[in-house]
Amino acid sequence: QARNSQAGQATTSVAENVHKQPFVIGVAGGAASGKTTVCDMIIEQLHDQRVVLVNQDSFYHNLTPEELTRVHEYNFDHPGKFYAFDNEKLLSAMEMLKHGKAVDIPKYDFRSYKNNISRRVNPSDVIILEGILIFHDPRVRDMMNMKIFVDTDADVRLARRIRRDTGEKGRDIGMVLDQYSKFVKPAFDDFILPTKKYADIIIPRGGDNHVAIDLIVQHIRTKLGQHDLCKIYPNLYVIHSTFQI
Ligand code: CTP
Repeated sequence: QARNSQAGQATTSVAENVHKQPFVIGVAGGAASGKTTVCDMIIEQLHDQRVVLVNQDSFYHNLTPEELTRVHEYNFDHPGKFYAFDNEKLLSAMEMLKHGKAVDIPKYDFRSYKNNISRRVNPSDVIILEGILIFHDPRVRDMMNMKIFVDTDADVRLARRIRRDTGEKGRDIGMVLDQYSKFVKPAFDDFILPTKKYADIIIPRGGDNHVAIDLIVQHIRTKLGQHDLCKIYPNLYVIHSTFQI
């Protein structure tokens, strides 16, 4: 009897630990493909759930003063260790959130090329991880329960990029086009497009594709519903997960 109740306690706490794990969604795709719009639409439709958005942009390395003087030579689209993103920082932020701890995540300023301020991100039921190279590192990829690739035509991406970079980012059009042909396009072909194979769902036309977004939200709701059922019947989860193994 004593052994059984001890075992019961252990399994319940295992079940609690397991069901508290957030549902992690990865959203990748070329620059200016409409990833942010897709994420915003998912968040809006999941209004009754706790959802947080984590942008890979927040983990851009800060440039040194020397790099800042030659910023047009810097490749912001390359996944290599000494290039764009600090993946170790991203991984440790995700570990914190997955273990139910709040974390401060930097906010990247594209005008100054710096992470100036941070925002506090609380643990949530759903975490959306968004970025051009978010499927590149297998350690980050393995954290995801659902992977979405936003597939938008190259000309649409380039047109949006020109509009955005000359507007919001205050850049010169010549510089935008140089950066595109020197770094952005080759990196898309060599590093971003090859990660499409990891996607569970590919969304053509990005945020304009309402049918795809409705289906994705339905699937997330089903998954979260299963989690809720496990909260009410923790043993159900234990039996279910045993069968899964
Ligand atoms: N980038 C830049 N200058 C920096 C840092 C990044 O021009 N200081 C560019 C990179 O070249 C990269 C792009 O920012 O191509 C990545 O951001 P992007 O995916 O375009 O932004 P999101 O708004 O997240 O994407 P989407 O438009 O798909 O929503």
